[in-house]
Amino acid sequence: MSVSLSSLQSAKQQKRPLVVLTAWDYTLAGILDEIVDIVMVGDSLAMVALGHSSTLPVTLDQMIHHASAVSRGVKKAFLVCDLPFLSYQESIAVAIHSAGRILKETGVNAVKLEGGYPLMAETVASLTSIGIPVMGHVGLTPQSVNRLGYRQQGKTQVEAQRILSEAVSLEAAGAFAVVLEHIPADLAATITSQLNIPTIGIGAGKHCDGQVLVTADLLGLSEKIPPFAKPYLNLRELITQAIGQYASQVREGKYDI
Ligand code: KIV
Repeated sequence: MSVSLSSLQSAKQQKRPLVVLTAWDYTLAGILDEIVDIVMVGDSLAMVALGHSSTLPVTLDQMIHHASAVSRGVKKAFLVCDLPFLSYQESIAVAIHSAGRILKETGVNAVKLEGGYPLMAETVASLTSIGIPVMGHVGLTPQSVNRLGYRQQGKTQVEAQRILSEAVSLEAAGAFAVVLEHIPADLAATITSQLNIPTIGIGAGKHCDGQVLVTADLLGLSEKIPPFAKPYLNLRELITQAIGQYASQVREGKYDI
């Protein structure tokens, strides 16, 4: 059975942890679809698939291109696509246009945006009012790297209170879930207990309702893996070995098929 908004909500009530991973192409999406609850076309693809040093340069058209490929590989999982930097912050009308294009042109189920009140909560309310499900994202928001860096957020009382208020305002605006990135575990636990919608953590401890990783980090494929991500494999090394063997066989005249 396909994962739906209501099954995601039930998971929170039943305390069934949600498994979320990112994808940027068709092949990976098909593998993830068998296992995870949510496949996310994160704007981290700017780094992982396009070689940029941050998420800022990826365009709406590029997100749509990758999300369409991912969508063709996903049959069961719930599919979310990031709204990239500058495709939603300018005005609610721009956000509606960008989110609408993503849904119309890719077949994903929902969009994700970064930030809290006041503008982002209003944006979430407008998008949900026209039938576009929205996932929020607070704490470390990589699209704000030039202001925040990549450091942990929510360490002071003031910051923690702001992040909690943002998460609460996103729920009130109609978000169906919220990503909590790189915040202290006790703050993530507080937010998780105060919200009725699922929280999805990344570097936010074990008390969230679900966990997300950039799949390239999980596989050990990324050039740089953030300290709060957990690699389960060194795929970079395995690929290098396999390609090295192939290259040697070709160069030594031993490749014959
Ligand atoms: O861009 C991304 O991949 C993300 C997830 C890690 C939450 O936003």
